[in-house]
Amino acid sequence: MSGQTMATEPPLLEINDLHVHFPVSGALFSRRKQALRAVNGVSLHLNKGECLSIVGESGCGKSTTALSVIGLQAPTSGDILFEGKSIIGANAPPRMERARIAQMVFQDPYASLNPRQTVHRSLAEPLRLHGTKSRSEIDDRVAEMLRRVGLTPEQATRFPHEFSGGQRQRIGIARALILDPHIIMLDEPVSALDVSIRAQIINLLLDLKEQLSLSYIMISHDLGVVEHMSDRVAVMYFGQIVEIGHWDAIFSSPTHPYTRKLISTIPDPDAILQTGVKAVLRNAPPPPQGYRFYPQDITNPDVYAAPAPSELISISEDHQVRCQRLSA
Ligand SMILES: Nc1ncnc2c1ncn2[C@@H]1O[C@H](COP(=O)(O)OP(=O)(O)OP(=O)(O)O)[C@@H](O)[C@H]1O
Ligand SMILES: [Mg+2]
Repeated sequence: MSGQTMATEPPLLEINDLHVHFPVSGALFSRRKQALRAVNGVSLHLNKGECLSIVGESGCGKSTTALSVIGLQAPTSGDILFEGKSIIGANAPPRMERARIAQMVFQDPYASLNPRQTVHRSLAEPLRLHGTKSRSEIDDRVAEMLRRVGLTPEQATRFPHEFSGGQRQRIGIARALILDPHIIMLDEPVSALDVSIRAQIINLLLDLKEQLSLSYIMISHDLGVVEHMSDRVAVMYFGQIVEIGHWDAIFSSPTHPYTRKLISTIPDPDAILQTGVKAVLRNAPPPPQGYRFYPQDITNPDVYAAPAPSELISISEDHQVRCQRLSA
C-alpha cells in the first residue's frame, strides 16, 4: 500500500434530498396554505452505463423527479449533481451544457412531437436552438439519428401522423439523442405501444445504450420491462424511496411491505416463476434489528405532512430499505 487514498470518482448523477412541493388550496375558508409533497426527500445516484429504474404507483412522484433532472421542474430544496457538480439553481451550467446532461423520452410520442412539424424540423430544432448553424451539419446529424433508431433519412420529410406508434417512439428517441446527451430519462417509454412492438423498442434502447455509452433512468409500471432492462431498481412510495438496490435483490428479496405488495401484483406468471417471487412473498422478512419499516401504514399516506425521521438502512450489499429507528 502506498498510503495514498485513491480519489473516488463521483457518480454520474446524484440526487440529494430532493423535495418538490406543489401549493394546493386548503379546505374552503381555511387560511392554512398546504403543500402537496410530490417528491419528499429523494436521494439516489446513477452510475455511468447503468439503467436505474424507478417504480411505484401512480402519483408517487416519479415523473416530477425526472422533470427535475432535465431542468423542467424547479426543486423546492435539495440538489442534483452531474459528475460531482450541482446543476440546479444558480449553479446550473450554460444551456447547451445543461441540455447535454440529460434528455427525456416521454410515454406518448404523439403528444411530445409537434404534429405540424416534419420529422426533420422536430429533430433539427434542438440543434438550431443550441447553436448549430450549418445546414449540411444539421442534415447529416438528423440522417444519422434516424438511421440509429431504425428509420431512413428519406422519412425525415414526413409528419408524425404518417408513422406507426412504434415508429413515432423511434422519432421521440432520436429527438432525445440528437444533442448527444449523457443520460436519458425514459418515462414509461413503451407503455403506450402495442405489446407486439414493445420488445423491439426495448431492444433498440438497450442497443443504443451500448453503442452510445448512455446511462438511463427509466420509469415504468411494467415490472417485466423493469426486470429486463435494469441494473438497479428504486421503489418510490408517496414521494420517498422506500427500497433501492440491485434488480435481483429487489425481485428476489423484496423487503419493504410496499415493495412486496408491488411485486405481488406482477401479472406475468413466467416472471413469477423465474424469480420465485411467490415463494419469496410467503416469508416476509423482519425489519433490521432496532428498526421498523417506514412508513408503517402503506394504505393511508399523508401527502401533505412532513415525514417522520427515517433512513435507508443497508440490509445487504447494494440493497437498502427505509426504516425508522425504534426508540430505546
Ligand atoms: N405541476 C403540478 N402542479 C401540482 N401538482 C402536481 C404537478 N405535477 C405533479 N403534481 C402532483 O404531484 C404528484 C406526483 O406526480 P407525478 O406526475 O410525479 O407522479 P408519477 O409517479 O409520475 O405518476 P404516474 O405513474 O401516474 O405518471 C401527483 O399527486 C400529481 O398530481
Ligand atoms: Mg408519471
